[in-house]
Amino acid sequence: MAAGGSAPEPRVLVCLGALLAGWVAVGLEAVVIGEVHENVTLHCGNISGLRGQVTWYRNNSEPVFLLSSNSSLRPAEPRFSLVDATSLHIESLSLGDEGIYTCQEILNVTQWFQVWLQVANPPPSAPQCWAQMASGSFMLQLTCRWDGGYPDPDFLWIEEPGGVIVGKSKLGVEMLSESQLSDGKKFKCVTSHIVGPESGASCMVQIRGPSLLSEPMKTCFTGGNVTLTCQVSGAYPPAKILWLRNLTQPEVIIQPSSRHLITQDGQNSTLTIHNCSQDLDEGYYICRADSPVGVREMEIWLSVKEPLNIGGIVGTIVSLLLLGLAIISGLLLHYSPVFCWKVGNTSRGQNMDDVMVLVDSEEEEEEEEEEDAAVGEQEGAREREELPKEIPKQDHIHRVTALVNGNIEQMGNGFQDLQDDSSEEQSDIVQEEDRPV
Ligand SMILES: *[C@@H]1O[C@H](CO)[C@@H](O)[C@H](O)[C@H]1NC(C)=O
Ligand SMILES: *[C@@H]1O[C@H](CO)[C@@H](O)[C@H](O)[C@H]1NC(C)=O
Ligand SMILES: *[C@@H]1O[C@H](CO)[C@@H](O)[C@H](O)[C@H]1NC(C)=O
Ligand SMILES: *[C@@H]1O[C@H](CO)[C@@H](O)[C@H](O)[C@H]1NC(C)=O
Ligand SMILES: *[C@@H]1O[C@H](CO)[C@@H](O)[C@H](O)[C@H]1NC(C)=O
Ligand SMILES: *[C@@H]1O[C@H](CO)[C@@H](O)[C@H](O)[C@H]1NC(C)=O
Ligand SMILES: *[C@@H]1O[C@H](CO)[C@@H](O)[C@H](O)[C@H]1NC(C)=O
Ligand SMILES: *[C@@H]1O[C@H](CO)[C@@H](O)[C@H](O)[C@H]1NC(C)=O
Repeated sequence: MAAGGSAPEPRVLVCLGALLAGWVAVGLEAVVIGEVHENVTLHCGNISGLRGQVTWYRNNSEPVFLLSSNSSLRPAEPRFSLVDATSLHIESLSLGDEGIYTCQEILNVTQWFQVWLQVANPPPSAPQCWAQMASGSFMLQLTCRWDGGYPDPDFLWIEEPGGVIVGKSKLGVEMLSESQLSDGKKFKCVTSHIVGPESGASCMVQIRGPSLLSEPMKTCFTGGNVTLTCQVSGAYPPAKILWLRNLTQPEVIIQPSSRHLITQDGQNSTLTIHNCSQDLDEGYYICRADSPVGVREMEIWLSVKEPLNIGGIVGTIVSLLLLGLAIISGLLLHYSPVFCWKVGNTSRGQNMDDVMVLVDSEEEEEEEEEEDAAVGEQEGAREREELPKEIPKQDHIHRVTALVNGNIEQMGNGFQDLQDDSSEEQSDIVQEEDRPV
C-alpha cells in the first residue's frame, strides 16, 4: 500500500497522463484511482481563482445528483462532502463507486468537467511463482500469480542475476525454450499494482536439472516378478520419468501392460516385470528423467535366472537332519551308559507298564548316580556305589537307581528331566530295594 504522507488524501493516485492531456479542456476526463475502504477527493477541473456554484452528479443512464455548493440542497449521502467548496470528497470507497462523475460549474458561463473514478484494491497476499513443463512441448513455462487485486496487476519476468527482461504481461506467464535454460538459473517475477507498493512485490524460481538414483543390477527368477526402482532428485520443475529398453536404437519406451506395471510416487518411479522370462526380459533397462533443464539416464542390468527348487532344498535339509539323528542315536546306543527297558520284563511284576528302569553300568555315570542318591536315602546310595560289581550276583532289583514314569522320549529331553522325575519315584523304589522280591 502506498504510504505517502504529504497530502491529506495520500491514497488517491491521479493518472497524470490523463490529467495533463484533458484537465483544462472542458469535457475531457481525468482518471482518479481510489482504494477500497479509503477516501477519495475528485476535483472539479484544475482551475484556480474565483469559483462559481458547483454541483456534482454521478453519470448513470441519467445523471444522479450527489451534492451542490448551494447549501440549501442536501447531499444524496452523508459520505459525500465538498472540499474547498468545489471538490467532491467520498468516504469509505466501495467497488460500486467506480464510474464517471460530472461536475457543473456556473460562473459567467456554465462548464462541465468529468472525472473517471477507478476503485482499486491491491492483492492481499504475496505473489506466487513457479515453473512447470509446458504440456505438449518441450518448453519451460514460468507462471506468476498475484490474486485478489483490482484492477489486474502487471507482471515482469527477469533473469537473475543480470536483469535481462524475459517478458512483461498482465498474464504473468512466459514460455522459455531449452536454449534459454541452464541448471541453477534463477528467474524473478516482479509484480506491480496500481495501488500496490511502489517497489512492487516479487518472487523467484530457480530451475534445476534432475539427478538419478537407482540400483545398477537386478535379478529375477524365471516366472517370478521383479521391481526396478528409480529415484529422481533435485529436479525443478519435476522431471518426467520414463522407462526404456535398449534392445534397439533408438531405445523403446516401455508402455504399461499386463507384464509391465509402472508406478510413480512423486519423483520415484518403479517398473515391475511380471512372469520374468530370460528371452524376453533379460538385458539393459533405462530409467530416464526428462526435463527442459536437463536429461539424465541410468542403466539397470536385469538378469533372469532359473529358480532354485525349494522343495528339493527342504527335502535335502530334512534328509540330512534325519541322517544326523540316526547317527547320533546309533552312537548313543553304542556308547551310552544308559539302557532302558520295561520294568514289566523283570520278576517284580509290579503294575507299572510305563515305568522305565535306569540302570547304571559305567563309571561315568556314577557321579550323577550319587547326586540321585543324595536326593534319596544315603543308605541306598552306599549300596549302589558298589552295585556295578554285584550285578551278576543279584537276583532282586538292587541295581535300580531311577525310575521314569513315561515314555522313552522323555529321556531325550535331557538328563535333568530324568532326575527330577526319578527323584519322586525313587523313594518308593528304595523302600522296595531293601526287601528281597
Ligand atoms: C476519511 O474521511 C473521514 C472524514 O472526512 C475521516 O474521518 C477518515 O479518517 C478518513 N479515512 C481515511 C482512511 O483517511
Ligand atoms: C493545474 O494545472 C496547472 C497548469 O495548468 C498545473 O501547474 C497544476 O499542477 C495543476 N494542478 C493540479 C492539482 O493538478
Ligand atoms: C455524464 O453526464 C453528463 C451530463 O448529463 C453528460 O454530458 C456526459 O456525456 C455523461 N458522460 C457519460 C460518459 O455518460
Ligand atoms: C440554491 O437552491 C435553492 C433550492 O433549489 C434555490 O432556490 C436557490 O436559488 C439556489 N441558490 C443559488 C445561488 O443558485
Ligand atoms: C466572467 O466575468 C468576470 C466579471 O464578472 C470577467 O472579469 C471575466 O472575464 C468573465 N469570464 C469569462 C470567462 O467570461
Ligand atoms: C507376481 O505378481 C503377480 C501379480 O501381482 C502375482 O499374482 C504373483 O503371485 C506374483 N508372483 C510372485 C512369485 O511373487
Ligand atoms: C544397451 O546398453 C548397453 C550398455 O550401455 C550397450 O552395451 C548396448 O550396446 C546397448 N544396446 C543397444 C542396442 O544400444
Ligand atoms: C508366464 O510366461 C510363460 C511364457 O514365458 C507362459 O507360458 C505362462 O503362461 C505365463 N504365466 C502367466 C501367469 O502369465
